[in-house]
Amino acid sequence: MNSRRNFVKKTALASAGISLLSNVSFGAMTNLNDKKLRLAFIGVGLRGMNHFNNALNRKDIEITAICDIDPERIKLALKKIDTANWSKPKVFGNSDYDYRNLLELDNVDAVIISTPWLWHTKMAVDAMKAGKYTGLEVSAANTIEECWDLVNTHEATGSHLMILENVNYRRDVLAVLNMVKQNVFGELVHFRCGYQHDLRFVKLNDGKTAYGKGVEFGEKGISESKWRTQHSVLRNGDVYPTHGVGPIAIMCDVNRGNRFVSLTSNATKAIGLHNYIVKHGGKDHPNAKIKFKQGDVITTTIETANGETIIVTHDCNLPRPYSLGFRVQGANGLWEVDGNRMYIEGQSKPHQWDKADQWLKKYDHPLWQKHGELATGAGHGGMDFFVLNAFVESAKENIAPPLDAYDAAAWSAITPLSELSIENNGEPQNFPDFTRGMWVKRKPYNWIKSKY
Ligand SMILES: NC(=O)c1ccc[n+]([C@@H]2O[C@H](COP(=O)([O-])OP(=O)(O)OC[C@H]3O[C@@H](n4cnc5c(N)ncnc54)[C@H](O)[C@@H]3O)[C@@H](O)[C@H]2O)c1
Repeated sequence: MNSRRNFVKKTALASAGISLLSNVSFGAMTNLNDKKLRLAFIGVGLRGMNHFNNALNRKDIEITAICDIDPERIKLALKKIDTANWSKPKVFGNSDYDYRNLLELDNVDAVIISTPWLWHTKMAVDAMKAGKYTGLEVSAANTIEECWDLVNTHEATGSHLMILENVNYRRDVLAVLNMVKQNVFGELVHFRCGYQHDLRFVKLNDGKTAYGKGVEFGEKGISESKWRTQHSVLRNGDVYPTHGVGPIAIMCDVNRGNRFVSLTSNATKAIGLHNYIVKHGGKDHPNAKIKFKQGDVITTTIETANGETIIVTHDCNLPRPYSLGFRVQGANGLWEVDGNRMYIEGQSKPHQWDKADQWLKKYDHPLWQKHGELATGAGHGGMDFFVLNAFVESAKENIAPPLDAYDAAAWSAITPLSELSIENNGEPQNFPDFTRGMWVKRKPYNWIKSKY
């Protein structure tokens, strides 16, 4: 991890290379010894508001600016500020690019970006160039070029980027990471994970129809149906890989002694969204004519430099209960989240599953033992507290975050590479090495002793 002194040294070095970049300033970072982190929000929709609420529960934050192009969301955010009796932040959102005026403010140390996917890289790059400690919602990027933009801008400016992957902080995930780091599974071999979440109601929602009955999206949609569904119309790939792959990448030290080397992807036919529209809007509804491109179940197999495989599933358009489908398997045994089961050779009865609970309790992560009570109610079973906490604490010290620009790039690259593989009948696609060879030397973050 970089200390503040290293950061200063690094920025001095980096600034030699940034004279070519416009709009670069480190001024905003000069005040980080202040007790409170001066935080701004770009995007206070569903997700941004969740971070916003959690921020309002902290004593070490000042919210100095907010930006959203939807006045209703601004109104709601200001109401919450008022109720909490906090000082009114500066407000932006008059146009799509008004966020750039927010980034010019000197009294913003750090920014949380929770906007639709196509805005992510653009906003994060601008934020890093403006010297802000940048938190970016998932996924971070849509194309390989955007993945490189994140890495290149981080390296050129010295500004940090944290991908705000909350699932990395889920209690069972951190307990299993604890087991991985204590070598309970032995040498790692194979993983499964994914995003298996029935999003039909989210993707087809006009905000007016009773729960589960809407069939509109785009201009007639609300929240994610405004922008997310269009990706299902035009793209056939795993557009949301990081909830699954983020935790696994950390377990097998990707970018820190290991790396993603290549992937293959395959897609099924697409029937789920069409069937839902016909069921709730009728076969004559205009949206029933739409030919969705995204296969209902997309299966990606990643190979790592250390010889593991990771199967990643994207399954959001068919009826099903939620599961991220984790499996972590090594030379000594395995964990499977579905079925809540664990098997460790020599400790479990031969050929019989243990309930995972007893293991997860035994290896409960120190972070959860310390902050579990605070986290209750923070959203998504408490993990939202931890991801914000890691961001805020890292930003206050201006040190490298636990989930960094290289992670953001490698995990997000799955999307464009899976699209390319599917387009080419499952042909293998190579991952760029976003660390430019440094994965060989980079040391894993110390997740067991970590304060956040
Ligand atoms: N980590 C998680 O658990 C989790 C959960 C939900 C969503 N997300 C991610 O969070 C992001 C936002 O999702 P959401 O559900 O909040 O969507 P949303 O549509 O509810 O919110 C997006 C907000 O961004 C605003 N916006 C759009 N363009 C803007 C611009 N140019 N400038 C300023 N504001 C702009 C919109 O007005 C809206 O309020 C997505 O990347 C999504 O994948 C993550």
